[in-house]
Amino acid sequence: MTAVIGLNNGIPIPALGLGVLQSEGRDATRAVSSALCNGVRLIDTAAAYFNEREVGEGIRDSGIDRGDVFLTTKLWMTDYGYDSALRAFDTSTAKLGVDYLDLYLLHWPWPGNWSETVASYKAAERLLGEGRVRAIGVSNFKPLHLRNLLEVSDRVPAVNQIELHPNFQQPELVSLHRELGILTQAWSPIGGVYGWAGENRTLPPMQNEVIGKIAHDHRKSPAQVILRWHLQEGRSAIPKSINPERIAENIDVLDFELTADELSTIAAIDTGRRGALDPDDASPETIGLTIDAA
Ligand SMILES: NC(=O)c1ccc[n+]([C@@H]2O[C@H](COP(=O)([O-])OP(=O)(O)OC[C@H]3O[C@@H](n4cnc5c(N)ncnc54)[C@H](OP(=O)(O)O)[C@@H]3O)[C@@H](O)[C@H]2O)c1
Repeated sequence: MTAVIGLNNGIPIPALGLGVLQSEGRDATRAVSSALCNGVRLIDTAAAYFNEREVGEGIRDSGIDRGDVFLTTKLWMTDYGYDSALRAFDTSTAKLGVDYLDLYLLHWPWPGNWSETVASYKAAERLLGEGRVRAIGVSNFKPLHLRNLLEVSDRVPAVNQIELHPNFQQPELVSLHRELGILTQAWSPIGGVYGWAGENRTLPPMQNEVIGKIAHDHRKSPAQVILRWHLQEGRSAIPKSINPERIAENIDVLDFELTADELSTIAAIDTGRRGALDPDDASPETIGLTIDAA
């Protein structure tokens, strides 16, 4: 089992979960089912991962009660707008085969169409008010996006899910989250972005010597050290794996503790350079995807 964090509306969220970006077909179903059977209780998908049906199947295959699973999905930009967001929510829940979600996130800010970004958040607020989702939040929002959103909404997002791993730690954004009461949830928490975001010359954090030494000293894997670091920093993290052994490894991080020195050493790895798209450039055109109907 894993640690639990309280969201700003009192809803508990497991600190560690399973991500399913690029987990396809039976792999996605098996990963979700295997994770739940191994004690993972948070599953992170998105309309844009095109696997909501398979994720739903994995939850049912696991035999774990729906009420014991914390399920997140995300609204894609082509569905931004008040009415279209409500329709997209129905599509996602129908694909997942669930009648409520635990967390619904706006997948990216769309700075070039800010009014529809806000309208989508308003739709999410309505879903929250109707009890169809237990918490709402955003993803990939930078400080200005958060501040602009809070000018038009009193509902502070429960979560901002952002790129965060040892190479890219976003300390200013994380400190704004703390100030506002937003949980930081790390995507690509162990550096998976370096595998899918195209060629770049940065050394992935799991291959970093400093992480390797700390892992050796604790007799843990580099992935476990990084996930333990996220937990000790008070974050949620959603590592992706389709491999049952690695899924089990990724939540087995509660039996050791990083020292203050080790935490500072990891803090010093930060390059300040993201591995993926800058959210200021996000739009349906820069990430060309369209979501199919249920
Ligand atoms: N909101 C957003 O815009 C956004 C963007 C990106 C990702 N996400 C979410 O965040 C999740 C995680 O991010 P990610 O998939 O980019 O990267 P990640 O979780 O940091 O890394 C995943 C990669 O690491 C491998 N891996 C997993 N556990 C391992 C271990 N213990 N040892 C060695 N290798 C291991 C996986 O391979 P195997 O599968 O073969 O184990 C996969 O190649 C996604 O699945 C998605 O849910 C959100």
